[in-house]
Amino acid sequence: MGCTRCPLHATRTQGVVGVGPKRADWLVIGEAPGAEEDRRGEPFVGPAGQLLDAMLRAIGLDRATNVYIANILKSRPPGNRDPKPDEVAACLPYLVRQIALLQPKIMLAVGRIAAQNLLGTQLPLGRLRGQVHHFGEFNTPLVVTYHPAYLLRTPGEKRKAWEDLKFARSVYQRLT
Ligand code: URA
Repeated sequence: MGCTRCPLHATRTQGVVGVGPKRADWLVIGEAPGAEEDRRGEPFVGPAGQLLDAMLRAIGLDRATNVYIANILKSRPPGNRDPKPDEVAACLPYLVRQIALLQPKIMLAVGRIAAQNLLGTQLPLGRLRGQVHHFGEFNTPLVVTYHPAYLLRTPGEKRKAWEDLKFARSVYQRLT
């Protein structure tokens, strides 16, 4: 990925576009590549990725077969700082194009950064959970939950994440 639309291209090792089957029903969207993702060129392969895989498995999903995984930003922000608005603005059209190509049946936004940027809101994550939102030109159902890195730091919130995952699964089951 040779994109130079924002200054992060100068500090990244490589762009991390996304991974998964092109016909996946599920699209999981995180924040931005971390150190391990920047090194390997694949999203969610570090510690948060291990937990994400476990979360997906808990609702019968496997990233090899039915889930595409991408991030709001394709380039790692130095030191894993939060994405800046101009970086998000530069990168979001790429994700919108990915969504148009993939046409997932359902989207799962993990974490505040993904949820707020996809929904164009400043509301806290706690206010965005537990309801079906819709995204973009295909009105794709979108459910919000906690970021696995946050859950690693705050394991007491895992119970709520489990509720969110069961909710997302029920939304998906109603679609198909
Ligand atoms: N955190 C994210 O939000 N995305 C990744 O790809 C890895 C960690």
